[in-house]
Amino acid sequence: MPVLDRGFIFGDGVYEVIPVYRGAFFRLDEHLARLQNSLDGIRLPNPYTATQWHTLFAELLKRNAPAAQQTVYVQVTRGVAPRDLAFPAVPPTVFAMVQDVASPTAAARARGITAITVADIRWQRCHIKAITLLPNVLMRQQALDAGVQEAILVRDGEALEGVASNLFIVRDGRLITPPKGQHLLPGITRDVVLGLAQDIGLTPNEHAIPLKELQGAEEIWLTSSNKEIQAVTWLDGKQVGNGTPGPWWARMTARYDAFKMTLG
Ligand code: PDD
Repeated sequence: MPVLDRGFIFGDGVYEVIPVYRGAFFRLDEHLARLQNSLDGIRLPNPYTATQWHTLFAELLKRNAPAAQQTVYVQVTRGVAPRDLAFPAVPPTVFAMVQDVASPTAAARARGITAITVADIRWQRCHIKAITLLPNVLMRQQALDAGVQEAILVRDGEALEGVASNLFIVRDGRLITPPKGQHLLPGITRDVVLGLAQDIGLTPNEHAIPLKELQGAEEIWLTSSNKEIQAVTWLDGKQVGNGTPGPWWARMTARYDAFKMTLG
């Protein structure tokens, strides 16, 4: 890759992470729609039609050894040009790769993950899946330095999402997640999980989660394309529920596992 690529020099680009289960894409059209929104958000024309993306990704999978669970990472940057902030008149750079995902062991799933809340230091366009992830890098490291695995981001007293995942809490039979907006990424896994809530007997509910409500939650989950649904069992040094992944998490995980194998 040329060093003057604007992705490298400015972080001027957007990306997607798309799950692949046993060689089949999961929610590909939804990921392509979000890629389009991200491109629109940075005023970069989409270099390919949906059909061309499908063809490109099919070729990518064909050239790599199949595995039970993979992700395709794709990024589009504003191309290679002399270093100047103004938009250049050059073609965008497209890069895509396929990676195998190791499913967490049963023991790891049963432990859940530990997290702290941190102040969200990101910008005002978090709904764009921008490759510029320096705040996320710093916040994840802040969590690791504090001896936990994850950070839950808080802005103006409200818990929004994880460093690379969406946030859910369970409370009084409701599955609550913050509404979409400019302060969080509209996760594809989030939409699937919300859509499955009623199947397991929870009422889906999109509303803001004040920090106090997060701290009093019966269960806390983080969702993403590569980690699927993770239960947070320790938050800010206190156990969530009884300190193990809760019964609703177990039901949702089973439902999600069944769903992802039947539908693309
Ligand atoms: N991250 N919020 C943020 C800030 C994210 O970066 C991600 C995904 C999500 C979950 O979105 P989805 O369910 O569509 O994966 C929420 C990807 C996986 C990553 O950066 O690797």
